[in-house]
Amino acid sequence: MPSDNLPRKGVVLAGGLGTRLRPLTKVTNKHLLPVYDRPMIYYPIQTLCDAGIRDIMLVTGGDSAGDFLRLLGNGAAFGLNDISYTYQEGEGGIADALRLCEHFAEGERIVVVLGDNILQMGITPYLRNFARQASGARILLKEVEDAERFGVPELENDRIVRIEEKPAQPKSRYAVTGVYMFDRRVFDFIKKLTPSQRGELEIADVHNRYIADGDLYYDVLQGWWSDAGTFESLFRATQLVARARRASDTTSA
Ligand code: DAU
Repeated sequence: MPSDNLPRKGVVLAGGLGTRLRPLTKVTNKHLLPVYDRPMIYYPIQTLCDAGIRDIMLVTGGDSAGDFLRLLGNGAAFGLNDISYTYQEGEGGIADALRLCEHFAEGERIVVVLGDNILQMGITPYLRNFARQASGARILLKEVEDAERFGVPELENDRIVRIEEKPAQPKSRYAVTGVYMFDRRVFDFIKKLTPSQRGELEIADVHNRYIADGDLYYDVLQGWWSDAGTFESLFRATQLVARARRASDTTSA
C-alpha cells in the first residue's frame, strides 16, 4: 500500500454482451465501438491513467476478446508499461466481472470504472477523498433526468441509506455512476452475493453491503458524465465528446 493511501490499481470492466446495442454488437464488443474519434474503451482507461493509475486490469468477454489485445496491446498508447487482461464467461453481472480481479488486487484498495462510462473531468479529487477513508467504499453520484435507467441512491440527511437498481419509482434524482472505489472487503462481499431476478450479481448489492456496515461514502461528480450502452446514450456521449474536442481545439488554436 502506498504511503499516501491512494489506490494504485484500477480495473476496467468491459465484459457483458452489449445486447441493447444489437445489431451494432452482433460481430464486435460494445466497448470497441466508436465514441466520436476513439473506441469506447479508451475513455475509461484514460480516466484511470489521468488519475495516475498505472496498474490496470481489463475484464472482457464475448467473441471479440482478442480484438482488445490487438487494439490496446501493452498500453503504450496510454504511456503504460503493460495492461493485464482477464476474461468473463457469459454475462453474470458487474460484480461477477469484478470477482475475477481478486488476485490482481492483491489485497490493495482498487478503483473500478465501467467500460461504457465517459467522464468530462478527472477523478483525482475523489480518489483523494477515498484515501482519507480508513476503510470502506466510495461512489460517485450524478443528477440525471432518467434515474430509472441506473442504480439510484436513497438519501437521508445526506447519507445513502439504500441503493436500488433501475427502480420504477426512483427515490432521488441521482444516478450511481460507474466509478467505484473499494477496500479489500469487496471480494468477500461478492462471494456472498446471490444472483438477482435478472440473473446477475449486482454491484448495487455490494454497495448495500457496505451501507449495512456504515462504510459507503460518496461525492457528486463534477462535469458531464454519460454511459454509452444504449443507442440514445451512445449518441449523447458522442455529441458530448465532439463538443468538448471542438472547444479544446478552439482554445488551443
Ligand atoms: O453506468 C452506470 C450504471 O451502470 C449504474 O448506474 C448501474 O447501477 C449499473 O448496474 C450499470 O447499469 P447498466 O445497465 O448500464 O449496466 P450494463 O449491463 O450496461 O453494464 C455496464 C458495464 O459493465 C458494461 O459496459 C461492461 C460491464 N459489465 C456488465 C455486465 C452485465 C461486465 O463487465 N460484465 C457483465 O456481466
